[in-house]
Amino acid sequence: MTDERPYSPGLEGVIAAETALGYVDGEKGRLLYRGYRIGDLVEHGTYPAVANLLWTGDWEPEHRMATGEIPDGVLTTLQALPKTAKPMDALRTAVSAWGATQALTYPPTPEQARALTAFSPSALAAFARLRAGQEPVASDPSLDLVPGFLYQLTGTKPDAGTARALDAYFVVGAEHGLNASTFTARVIVSTRSDLASSVAGAIGALKGPLHGGAPSEVVEQLHQVGSVERAEQWVKETLDKGERLMGFGHRVYRAYDPRAAALRKVAQSMDKKPEWLDLAIKVEDVALRVLAERHPERALKTNVEYYAAAVLQGVGLTPDLFPATFALARHAGWTAHVIEQSADNRLIRPDARYTGPQERDLPA
Ligand code: ACO
Repeated sequence: MTDERPYSPGLEGVIAAETALGYVDGEKGRLLYRGYRIGDLVEHGTYPAVANLLWTGDWEPEHRMATGEIPDGVLTTLQALPKTAKPMDALRTAVSAWGATQALTYPPTPEQARALTAFSPSALAAFARLRAGQEPVASDPSLDLVPGFLYQLTGTKPDAGTARALDAYFVVGAEHGLNASTFTARVIVSTRSDLASSVAGAIGALKGPLHGGAPSEVVEQLHQVGSVERAEQWVKETLDKGERLMGFGHRVYRAYDPRAAALRKVAQSMDKKPEWLDLAIKVEDVALRVLAERHPERALKTNVEYYAAAVLQGVGLTPDLFPATFALARHAGWTAHVIEQSADNRLIRPDARYTGPQERDLPA
């Protein structure tokens, strides 16, 4: 019962798929969507254009897309959830309920991807309002997806700067290679399941703090730091307790995360910056220095979540909406991977090394 085949915990370094969608260069800190640099896409693109690029391979910067309608049955499902439900749980439930109303066929298509990516912002906005005792706001087809989401969340059309900042966040969050949630989505569709099931599973994977739950914890940690003077002591004490600094470290990046660099720029140029942004920049310097001293063997740099927190709070989102907003942005990548997987499918079914007892008789 021995098995000499190599085992890589966490599948680290294992190539488990081929993709033409996102290229993550961890050593040089590069991220490309279908060959285009993330910094250029943030500057010259919008989320609908980037999503369309991922689904079709075509770069059409003028491509537009509004948020979608919520089917009646889905709204009833959202109304039935407790107000205390986590927005990620509500979004996962909404995607699942939406799938039940769509009779989705296999293989998944760009049209299905477009419909789900348009639906989910409306669903999250509706849940956020319902839990606050407010009526959901209907989608405004004249607004692009990201300003449309903010409108449905707040009931007010956002100013151009706010919409642009959140759109930049959506572009940065759209795709990132074979991360845990994308892998989950590909595994699900590899069984010839449908697009909504794949995305519902991906949302479940993204919910964990090691993946998409970090930005709200960044805000919490910065509140704990409180002041620049306390930064060094707080960082050291936190690491001494064996805890992790949220917004630092990455499975792939050994260089500065290019998404963090893009979002840092966006955050600094916002009219309404969170009051803790200057503190965050100073804490980052201290954290990078202390992490380098403690882990000379493994480069631990700032990851996307650190400045995502600043942009999301700057546009007026409450921290408990951060992970679900990240999930909205990642819809483009998840659905593009699901389409790509099904176009050249092989059931994903790896092996486990057995470590249990040898073959034996049941006790008499
Ligand atoms: N703070 C302190 N120490 C860290 C951190 C961190 N943020 N990240 C890694 N380390 C340490 C680990 O404790 C470990 O040390 P050890 O060997 O002495 O135990 C060493 O660095 C190697 O870490 P790994 O766990 O092997 O790194 P892994 O690749 O598994 O983890 C991860 C990557 C999960 C992102 C990790 O860096 C982490 O937990 N970061 C904090 C949470 C976070 O910011 N998540 C968002 C990631 S970005 C995204 O998903 C969109």
